[in-house]
Amino acid sequence: MENVFLSGDRGIGKSSLAHFVRQLCLKESNMLGIHVFLGGVSTPEELVRRVFEQLLKETYTQVWFKKIRDLFGNFIKNVGLFGVSVEFAPPKEQLKGLVHQFPTAIKNVFERIKDETSGLFIILDDINGLADKAEFANWYKSLVDHVATHDRELPLLLMLCGLPERRDTLSNLQPSLMRIFRVVEIERLSDDEVAKFFKEAFGSAKMKIIPDAMKLMVQFSSGLPTLMHEIGDATYWIDTDGLIEAGDAAKGIFAAAENVGQKYLDPKVYRAIRSERYRDILGKLVGTEAPTQTFSKREVEKTLNQEERKVFHNFLRRMRELGVIETDPERGKGAYRFVNRIFPIYIRMQTRATGKR
Ligand SMILES: Nc1ncnc2c1ncn2[C@@H]1O[C@H](COP(=O)(O)OP(=O)(O)O)[C@@H](O)[C@H]1O
Ligand SMILES: [Mg+2]
Repeated sequence: MENVFLSGDRGIGKSSLAHFVRQLCLKESNMLGIHVFLGGVSTPEELVRRVFEQLLKETYTQVWFKKIRDLFGNFIKNVGLFGVSVEFAPPKEQLKGLVHQFPTAIKNVFERIKDETSGLFIILDDINGLADKAEFANWYKSLVDHVATHDRELPLLLMLCGLPERRDTLSNLQPSLMRIFRVVEIERLSDDEVAKFFKEAFGSAKMKIIPDAMKLMVQFSSGLPTLMHEIGDATYWIDTDGLIEAGDAAKGIFAAAENVGQKYLDPKVYRAIRSERYRDILGKLVGTEAPTQTFSKREVEKTLNQEERKVFHNFLRRMRELGVIETDPERGKGAYRFVNRIFPIYIRMQTRATGKR
């Protein structure tokens, strides 16, 4: 059994890389891979249910399915027309049992298909809601211990994908886990890499980018593939003459900010903080001039009124939890930054629009 922790910021490409590795393992060594998305999941029960459900979905239309079907008992549900969609819906008690016997259950699955496959590759993607639960940390630890003492030879590869800070949380809960994981950290792309991406992407559409425009697009991409795509896409549609100038790039960045903000900030941030005071602080944080990405707690505090100052500490904590800001260790204590350069742009657009209204 091997354990990998794939860690990196949101939108850096964890899911994409995991997907790629899974395809590679299937092609190169015929490993059966299942990619389980766990966004919003917070209990081992639901995790285990989803693992087996994904296993069903993955094998349903293949020869593998016949060999493992009876392991699922009567709890396979056909949903949707033409049997194109399946669900695994065991009763609560059975599921509880499965959580405790997870390694044995996995082993039994493998035993059935070992002539056709060289191993199992399970991707536990987006474990952010689980990594801070002691229940999950302990469950994982006992899984590893069980395999180590009973099934040393089980060809099982588990890959967890999550945010870097979740890795820390998990290791605080269960310190021995970090010795178990091979940690793979995906770093942000360098400016050169981002520029290369834009050059090639626009080049393939027979479009050219003026250096000033390139500089803007690179800066605001913040080394994150998601932002690269949003900015590139928006700019592509805004341009009319096949030459990307600074003006096109600026418009593209605003349009991308709108998209990104609606996707990632609106649902979380604006709904989570109904408080007008929080909104006012946000407004002050992004300022009225060019929004800065970094700020110091003390500097911002100076601009706040007494009421705002009282809630500022909680505000910062909440914003960190929501993934909007992070501490900036390089700049020392009390230094913070937005996790990317697009967020402050969007917040500024929003607070301005509200101001006008
Ligand atoms: N190496 C890469 N180069 C260009 N785009 C990428 C790369 N890796 C991922 N992407 C794109 O970036 C976006 C975010 O990737 P994703 O895998 O969902 O990130 P994460 O799982 O870390 O949040 C997706 O649209 C994906 O297609
Ligand atoms: Mg992902």
